[in-house]
Amino acid sequence: MPARRSWSVRTRLTLIAVTTAALSDTAVTAVALYFLHDLADAYYPGEPVPWYVHPGLFAFLVGMSLLGVVFAGVSAYRTVAFALLPVNAITSELTEITSTDLGRRVPVPEARDEIRELAQTINQALDRLEQAVERQRRFASDASHDLRSPLTAMRAQVEEALHYPEDVDWGPKAQAMLASLDRLQAIVADLLTLAKLDAAAPSARERIDLGRMVADELDRRERRVTVVRRLEPRVTVAGDPLQLARLLTNLMDNAERHAASTIMVSVSAHEGKAVLEVLDDGAGIAPAQREVVFARFTRLDAARARDAGGTGLGLPIAREIAQAHGGSLVVEDSSRGARFVLRIPLARRASDPGRPSGRPPGRAAAG
Ligand SMILES: Nc1ncnc2c1ncn2[C@@H]1O[C@H](COP(=O)(O)OP(=O)(O)OP(=O)(O)O)[C@@H](O)[C@H]1O
Ligand SMILES: [Mg+2]
Repeated sequence: MPARRSWSVRTRLTLIAVTTAALSDTAVTAVALYFLHDLADAYYPGEPVPWYVHPGLFAFLVGMSLLGVVFAGVSAYRTVAFALLPVNAITSELTEITSTDLGRRVPVPEARDEIRELAQTINQALDRLEQAVERQRRFASDASHDLRSPLTAMRAQVEEALHYPEDVDWGPKAQAMLASLDRLQAIVADLLTLAKLDAAAPSARERIDLGRMVADELDRRERRVTVVRRLEPRVTVAGDPLQLARLLTNLMDNAERHAASTIMVSVSAHEGKAVLEVLDDGAGIAPAQREVVFARFTRLDAARARDAGGTGLGLPIAREIAQAHGGSLVVEDSSRGARFVLRIPLARRASDPGRPSGRPPGRAAAG
């Protein structure tokens, strides 16, 4: 629906001031005439006194009233115009800010008033917007870089086969292309999962016995290393079982890739949170890299050497899932290897009223 056109704030406030001044001046003039009429009656008994008492007096009173109205109108107009100067400055700065120069900020007035608060709030919103746009830009460029490598490899293989068709051994050639296709497919699937998680689409939220779910997931797959379990019963969370299974699989795949011989998986409850730990006995992650590994497309050199096939999206997806459940996923200190710790709020008991805390999870594909 198109917005209704209305007068500017300056005009409206001026009209209000003029109307108020006119009404009060009329009232004051009427009261003054009333008393002056009584006074004239008392001074000149028997003489008829008109309601306006005397033409000169009446003209003076009306003139003063009009002067008062004009004065009120002009001062209201100028005061409002002055008060709105910072708003005009904010508006003109905002109209010049585009997606390519998000580093600019609106001017914050000195006076500690509502307009200053408005300017500060706008600047905070611009900060968040700039960070989000920067993240998206980096993500898009990383994604296209990662998609380019398997595409380039496939193109080289096809061109080579076309140039020397008689020398081509089609079996191994197709195998090599399949490997590139697998990588493309993995990247696209992970990108899709991240896009869904970013959109935070509402998804199934069930009561899950975390220990039992972890045991089921671990039973599902043989690992090349020993998996030790310490799973407390009745640690219940509210969440999407497919997403939580995917998170665990991401952590287990990483741990298996890096472990020397053992992975320890534990589930417990601590301070109102369910805690899931995955600890391996590999080389671990240096403290300086513990946040870096959660950035999209990050793969440390040791991982590239172990497996060229990873996308570097496993941990970012796992962290998004943790956050979608109102929790966190971090790497913490350990005497040996890498220790990933997931914390999510425990579900309220079925008898408790209200919803469990945390923002609703988005749906991810099962891992
Ligand atoms: N348990 C671990 N021990 C040592 N380094 C790890 C461990 N888990 C993750 N990393 C490091 O963090 C990086 C990012 O992990 P992430 O799961 O996001 O990607 P990936 O495992 O390389 O690829 P994908 O998960 O798509 O197969 C890994 O490449 C690796 O360098
Ligand atoms: Mg991984």
